[in-house]
Amino acid sequence: MAYLNENYLKLPGNYLFSEVARRVAAYREEHPEAEIIRLGIGDVTLPLPAASIAAMHAAVDEMAKKETFRGYGPEQGYDFLIDAIIGKNYTSLGLKISRDEVFVSDGSKSDCGNIQEIFSADASIAITDPVYPVYLDTNVMAGRTGALDKDGRFAGVAYLPSTEENGFAPALPDRPVDMIYLCCPNNPTGTTLSRTELAKWVDYARANDAVILFDAAYAAYITEPDIPRSIYEIEGAREVAIEFRSFSKTAGFTGTRCGYTVVPQSVTAKAKDGSRHPLNALWARRHSTKFNGTAYIIQRGAAAIYTDEGQKQVAENIAYYMENARIIREGLSSLGLSVFGGVNAPYIWLKTPNAMPSWDFFDKLLREANVVGTPGAGFGPSGEGYFRLTAFGAREDTEKAIARIREKLAL
Ligand code: MLT
Repeated sequence: MAYLNENYLKLPGNYLFSEVARRVAAYREEHPEAEIIRLGIGDVTLPLPAASIAAMHAAVDEMAKKETFRGYGPEQGYDFLIDAIIGKNYTSLGLKISRDEVFVSDGSKSDCGNIQEIFSADASIAITDPVYPVYLDTNVMAGRTGALDKDGRFAGVAYLPSTEENGFAPALPDRPVDMIYLCCPNNPTGTTLSRTELAKWVDYARANDAVILFDAAYAAYITEPDIPRSIYEIEGAREVAIEFRSFSKTAGFTGTRCGYTVVPQSVTAKAKDGSRHPLNALWARRHSTKFNGTAYIIQRGAAAIYTDEGQKQVAENIAYYMENARIIREGLSSLGLSVFGGVNAPYIWLKTPNAMPSWDFFDKLLREANVVGTPGAGFGPSGEGYFRLTAFGAREDTEKAIARIREKLAL
């Protein structure tokens, strides 16, 4: 008898963005004439940087010739990409990362979701709340939580509220935890943690033999000079932190797929017999067993963003999205709404008017203004009463969405 993994039954029906898409499709069916503007899922709208396109074309040509054709590549990624990553994202900050500490993948969503496999099945987890749902859902699937309660919390999980009241800087857990997920700049609130706040987490992890799983997918959007771009800027983080990075939002690779994870050799965890082992070796074992490497053509496209030309193009695209963020932030504030984020991240987090439940606000926005956003409650219980809009839309759509909210939404 093939019994199923009952942990899946603990999860709400759909993954957050699938549920948003389902509701939008149902509305479209009822109102085929509606001109819907999608500012829900954080999907980019600008084309890939020209430097990446040129590099990928050249890579296709290499694949067309016997002398330059490539089959399986190194599972951890080609050195040309790993060296570019290390040089531009770490050495430039004075940080030492070695080649065997970088794992190129098909995107950081997969890595953030899969990393939990290298921890014990009974490891305890802490997540900031609200946060990107992948961290929690994948741990539910793996059986590290109990059931979902009526307030939207899974038993056994340390939820760390990250709210307006605490300045989006969550307090340390009130019980010992083993795995700590931090997302900075945060998805969905668009807020960041200061150097002092991050140091607090690194110190906690060192004192409690915990590991920080640091999702920095939006690091390229940080504009304020004092905000760390990498967790490794914090002293001691090389012993306790794994960092996830993505080309999706940095360079428009949401459909092309490329990301990477840094697992320093010095991050270790204990086996039940008390012996300590580097997590790098476990992740390398997992990666090479379950993954055959990111496509050569894609890695060439990713590496091209580190050329001078590529860096300029990426900066222009990021500036475009951040101008959208400003338009949304200022537009909504001028309507009297409380808004957060949008300064170091492409997300704007708003308080729903009159404390309206977030899914109700989703429906209202869709019906009255034909604008799609993401309900805050989908990111965790502390997201209830909040709503996320993305700055990744086209400029024209972003301006139109704000104008419609101003004109059509009865606030
Ligand atoms: C989001 O909208 O939160 C992201 O696009 C989802 C993702 O990166 O997987």
